[in-house]
Amino acid sequence: MSTTLIHPAKGISGSLRPPGDKSISHRYAMLGAIANGATRLENFSTGADCASTLTCLEKLGVRCDRDGSIITIHGRGPHLQTSASPLDCGNSGSTMRMLSGILAGQEFTSELIGDASLSRRPMARVITPLAAMGATIHAHDGARPPLRITGARLKAIHYEMPIASAQVKTAVLFAGLLADGETSVAEPIRTRDHTEIALRAFGANPHAQGNRIRIRGREELHAIQTTIPGDLSSAAFFMCATALFPGSQLVITDLLMNPTRARLLDVLIAMGLGITVLEMTEQHGELRGTVQVEGRTLVGGTIAGSDTAALIDELPVLAAIAPYTKDGIEIRDARELRLKESDRVACVAANLRAMGAEVDEREDGLRIPGGQQLHGADIDSFGDHRIAMAFAVAALRADGETRIRHAESAGISYPGFFETLESVLER
Ligand code: S3P
Repeated sequence: MSTTLIHPAKGISGSLRPPGDKSISHRYAMLGAIANGATRLENFSTGADCASTLTCLEKLGVRCDRDGSIITIHGRGPHLQTSASPLDCGNSGSTMRMLSGILAGQEFTSELIGDASLSRRPMARVITPLAAMGATIHAHDGARPPLRITGARLKAIHYEMPIASAQVKTAVLFAGLLADGETSVAEPIRTRDHTEIALRAFGANPHAQGNRIRIRGREELHAIQTTIPGDLSSAAFFMCATALFPGSQLVITDLLMNPTRARLLDVLIAMGLGITVLEMTEQHGELRGTVQVEGRTLVGGTIAGSDTAALIDELPVLAAIAPYTKDGIEIRDARELRLKESDRVACVAANLRAMGAEVDEREDGLRIPGGQQLHGADIDSFGDHRIAMAFAVAALRADGETRIRHAESAGISYPGFFETLESVLER
């Protein structure tokens, strides 16, 4: 366990390039594995979660060459090799759920395991559609890891997702790619569309019509060569840190700007933050750009409905800066937030209270009044990377020092986070 000490800062300045986007890294690695040819990915996420995906793919017979953040995946085509030992997904729900879609279409049995946090997370959401397509899946209590998946020649389905989840959508589309016929999946609220974009980049033809995405089975994929844009959910910590210091300026380069991920920019602008897009380009269907962020006192506001779904990974840091806003922040419709790497509603509330804030914790969210001054405290990441980073941000404006226990969990998505934070702080 490592404990990190955060001292209050006076401002933020400079520039940074976030690590490669975690969501895109997982998808490109998995599609590269079942494509024909060598997929070369620059700026692949350096986080432990994407390393878990690579290790699982290697066990399935896929050669993955690593050269820092440049990864080359030697695709095997649609047929992977059986693994003699369990596939360890570590802390990564994305690895377990998305890979399940591919394993459902392999005619062998695989076992997927995870750490204590992942072992508590719900898997019925992928088991239900994949079983309907013909896979046999056993889980602990029918719903939790470990998963034992016996794949099959899959049949297409038309699936209505009961919850908004890009991971579930991805599992069904990946399975659909390996199935006979045309599979479709409809989502109750639109979620991030990296899978649809990635499938197109690798040569498949997913077709979106309203909230339903269709994919024809047995399409051949070809390898791609690309640079992965910087993770917007990682950059979020720095945007929110800048918001704490009116007048501060920070430039973020090579930032993912996919509209289904960039709702944070709209919400922060609406709350008063200055964000200027300096340039924008597109590669393989994903937008990226450079933004300049200018700190201004945020008004606060309510996050609900489709905003909650679109901002699901950014909610911990928005909640962590809420006390410093003028009117506070209310988060609604966020039951899913309790089912992440930790119960993020409860963990955010506990840490904010430890720092002296008044918080109203609700079943589906939080209401955090504005105009509150926090004090430094001993807090815990609860083993959750986004909680560790969110409270490093909250600590920058607190009175006194803050000690974050289990700060090493930031490495799940952002190994250099604390060093990068230090490099942009003004003391
Ligand atoms: C992700 C989807 C979201 C998100 C997770 C990454 C993805 O999860 O919270 O960090 O890459 O598709 P859900 O699909 O469970 O909403």
